[in-house]
This record gives sequence, C-alpha cells and structure tokens, in this order.
Amino acid sequence: MKDFLPLHGTDHIEFYVGNAKQAAHYYKTAFGFQGIAYAGPETGVKDRTSYVLRQQKMTFVFTSALKPEHEITRHVSKHGDGVKAIALLVENAYEAWKETTIREAESFLPPAYLTDTHGKLGMSGIKLYGDTVHYFIERQHYKGVFMPGYQSWTSEYNPPATGLLYVDHCVANVGWNQMNKWVKFYEDVMGFKNILSFDDSDISTEYSALMSKVMSSGNGYVKFPINEPAEGKKKSQVEEYLEFWGGEGVQHVAMATKDIVSTVQDLMTRGVEFLKVPSSYYETLEERVGKIDEDIEPLKELGILVDRDDEGYLLQLFSKPVQDRPTLFFEIIQRKGAQSFGKGNFKALFEAIEREQEKRGNL
Ligand code: FE2
Repeated sequence: MKDFLPLHGTDHIEFYVGNAKQAAHYYKTAFGFQGIAYAGPETGVKDRTSYVLRQQKMTFVFTSALKPEHEITRHVSKHGDGVKAIALLVENAYEAWKETTIREAESFLPPAYLTDTHGKLGMSGIKLYGDTVHYFIERQHYKGVFMPGYQSWTSEYNPPATGLLYVDHCVANVGWNQMNKWVKFYEDVMGFKNILSFDDSDISTEYSALMSKVMSSGNGYVKFPINEPAEGKKKSQVEEYLEFWGGEGVQHVAMATKDIVSTVQDLMTRGVEFLKVPSSYYETLEERVGKIDEDIEPLKELGILVDRDDEGYLLQLFSKPVQDRPTLFFEIIQRKGAQSFGKGNFKALFEAIEREQEKRGNL
C-alpha cells in the first residue's frame, strides 16, 4: 500500500520556553549546539523571539513570547519549558496536511507558503496530544538558513560540538487509558505502524508501572514511543510528569551519537546531569548482554546502560530533567545494530528515576 504520508525525518523540534535567549546559551554551552538563525523584533517579528540551533542533523528552535497576554506566555505558564512542536520533513506540506486532516486530524496551521529572497518554504500543522503539535515542513525550494522570517545568526561564542548526530526518537507521555487512542491516531491519521509494545509486566518496579507502544513511520525514519501510566503501589514517573507538565506532552528526546563514551564525558564536563544506576548493574552486565566492543570500566564510571536484542546491542543514558519541573529530559543513545529501546534497562532505569522522584517528594 502506498505511504500516504512519506516522511523524510525530523526537520526540527520547537521548544516554548520562558527565556529563549538563555535557553539558547544553555544548549550551546551544555550540549554543543551552534547558533544558526534568529527571528525577533530585529527581523520584523514583533511578538516573540526564536533562536535556531543546530548540531549535525538536529535543529532545535527555542521560542519565547515578548508580551504577557501572548499564547506562548500562557503555554509556558501552564507547562513550563518544553516541546511544543515536532516538525517533520515532507515533500509537500499541503498534501501532508490534506492527507492527515481528511483522516480527522485537527488542523493547527493550514498550509502556508512563506517566501523570501532564498526561495519558498511550505509549512502546515496538526494537533497532537495535549498542546503538542506536528508541523509539516517542505523545504526543497528553499535555500535559506532556516525559514523566511529568520536571519542567519552567528556569534563569537561557539563551544565545540559534543558528537550528537540526529534525533533517534521522541517519547510522549499520555494520560490513563489514552495510549491506544494515540496509537490509533498514528496508525489511522499518519499511516504509522506499532512496532513494539511493552506492558506493565515489562516495565514495573516495586512501586510503579507504565505501558508503552512504539509507533514508526512507514519508512522507519521517525519513531514515537507513547507511554501511559499503569497501576502501581505509588505514583509512577508518567503521573508525576502529567501533574507537573499539566497534561500530556513530550517526555524525552533521544539524541544519537557514534561514540557514547566521549559524548557523555563531554556533556558531563559541561554540566549536564545524568541518572545513576547502582554499580551492581555492571556486575551482571556481560552475563546479560554478552560480549561488547566497549570496555566496561568507562561505562560503569559514566553510568552508561547496555541492552541487546536480536539485531545487536545499544548503549544509552538518560539525563535528569533539564528544567525546574520534573518533565522533559534527554536520552543519549548509540546503536550498534539494535533497533529497540532498551527494554532490559527499564527496571534499573525506573528505579533510578524513582529515587529522584522520592527526593522531590513525588513518589
Ligand atoms: Fe527513549
């Protein structure tokens, strides 16, 4: 069957934040992104500022409103800093919007073609869970640095990159009994497939549980795991997220590297904080995953987790939340054949999250 929504990958992720200027500085300093474009009063955009940062194939946009009654101000007041939009690269922004809205997606942005001296860029958008949206971006006739309305932005301050390459996957947290609704949305509206499922027997600790299903676009370029809380003795991490974010939203963005040891060493030196598993995790590591190319010692020192599936193995590590609220965090992942998501690490990982939840008084 023809893929009615061919996606060429993640074009960019837009974050609504309280202070885009400082967020841009943090992502440059801590994660090694470079500034590439800016929109704001100086470029004719009067109500907000946006800073566009890039590292390899990843483009992040940080946007703040300039006025108290602005919709972005309300978004940040309700949710805190976090992901507003996952923008997907398409060949035709109008067709993407049409194919999804006839399948009952709610429109967020009717198709528009923006032009400047660098060409024409198509953009449209549909609503997702919570206040999150997907944009569809068509840029094959656009040669500018980001989008019409933006100016190229360079600065004297350019901390080196940290080896982060592309967005591997973005994970949503949705409410009780809402996971299958959003699985169906991705299947029916966007032509995705459910490639993996985890229930509470896979993902439970002594205290809490969650369920998860992984949705993949037809060509596999874009993957969205969706979590919902499951019944446990105490409050699960998904419930904590829902409470502090104020509803459903993006829980984490996984960024890929080819050398997780050097990337994580670099990120730690720059002040990125990661979850720690107990050192006992490494005592049984080889029994669990077999022989791997990496020395165990540096993995143990940095707290990097390893999991194996039929196709190979993967190394991963999760940051602590990157804002005051216990909401959005990042995953650093290196795939060595494995196409899965680290099921074997769920228990150790969720226990580490619960230790943090407990410190916050939210378990
Ligand atoms: Fe993940």
